[in-house]
Amino acid sequence: MAKVLMCPPELLSQDLSGRTYVVTGGNSGIGFETVQQLARQGARVILACRRVTEGEKAKASILAGRVLGTIEVSELDLARLESVRGFAKKILEADKIIHGLINNAGIMNTPEGKTRDGFELQFGTNHLGHFLLTELLIPALKNGAPSRIVNVSSCFHDKALGREGRIDFQDLNFERKKYDGWEAYAQSKLANLLHAKHLAKRLQGTGITTASVHPGWVRSNLIKFSMPLWMQNTVLRPILKLAGMIEPWEGAQSTFFALLSPEVPAQSGAYFSQIGIYRTKKAGSGGWPLQSPNPNALDEGSAERLDSVSRKLVGLEMTS
Ligand SMILES: NC(=O)c1ccc[n+]([C@@H]2O[C@H](COP(=O)([O-])OP(=O)(O)OC[C@H]3O[C@@H](n4cnc5c(N)ncnc54)[C@H](OP(=O)(O)O)[C@@H]3O)[C@@H](O)[C@H]2O)c1
Repeated sequence: MAKVLMCPPELLSQDLSGRTYVVTGGNSGIGFETVQQLARQGARVILACRRVTEGEKAKASILAGRVLGTIEVSELDLARLESVRGFAKKILEADKIIHGLINNAGIMNTPEGKTRDGFELQFGTNHLGHFLLTELLIPALKNGAPSRIVNVSSCFHDKALGREGRIDFQDLNFERKKYDGWEAYAQSKLANLLHAKHLAKRLQGTGITTASVHPGWVRSNLIKFSMPLWMQNTVLRPILKLAGMIEPWEGAQSTFFALLSPEVPAQSGAYFSQIGIYRTKKAGSGGWPLQSPNPNALDEGSAERLDSVSRKLVGLEMTS
């Protein structure tokens, strides 16, 4: 069984009343645990989800327990830039101040597909949707400073079932090469990490801290394109647990740490890993923070290039 790094309890009992957080993919898995914990600590949480009925169900289930804060469900489809813009507009009309953005939603190893705007589905959803959302919310995060942006990446940014994590600037959308669901996931998760890294540099002096995290191998709906959920949740569950699979509450610990620990601002842009399946032994047990073993994740030039390419793809003018 996996040894789980746990966020110090004093951080999980600190009073967050008066603080506003946006959590994408808050209806399920790690996002659900994140919304629940922040609301328990008294925060106002905006639960962003593409299926509002599922968001409302998640909210009702959280509010059935002991909660000091509030939860608002709001529709956001990261695979449609128009939806991202609409969500951000609605949020900003109501809130000029945000204290935390948790870019948590994600899809993994999907069949080949495109977002509404024509981008490869995983790169478009996991990275470009969050990239635009972040850019649009930065003014409110600046108003809320000290504030944080946490990108939920993955250890698969390094290697996903043998496919190396790299940003293929020549063919981001798998238009020239054959589509591979794991390769696309690795690219999108490396993009999450590089995005956080570059933002830290760009946002120096604003009071906004950024981080990327690997939550561990977590029992959630993420695996649905690779294995039937019933198998993961029933027959295979004990075996997968022995092999290292952890529960969503455990998987949310790296997010909590990146969001709440006073140690993180001094390490803005770093990668915090719950556990890892890595190419080097040294990195195998995870760490808060942990240097990625993937040289592509350490490349400042790629991070900068990804920023400017993403900006163009989502239709943003250069502003900062
Ligand atoms: N589970 C793991 O082992 C693991 C390991 C490493 C990294 N991660 C990362 O952890 C994050 C959370 O995943 P999870 O494990 O908690 O999986 P999950 O239970 O499947 O949650 C994913 C969330 O993302 C949402 N989502 C998917 N497509 C979206 C879109 N187009 N617009 C808005 N929301 C969308 C899902 O909404 P629906 O409910 O509507 O589908 C769901 O709320 C992901 O970024 C994933 O890459 C997970």
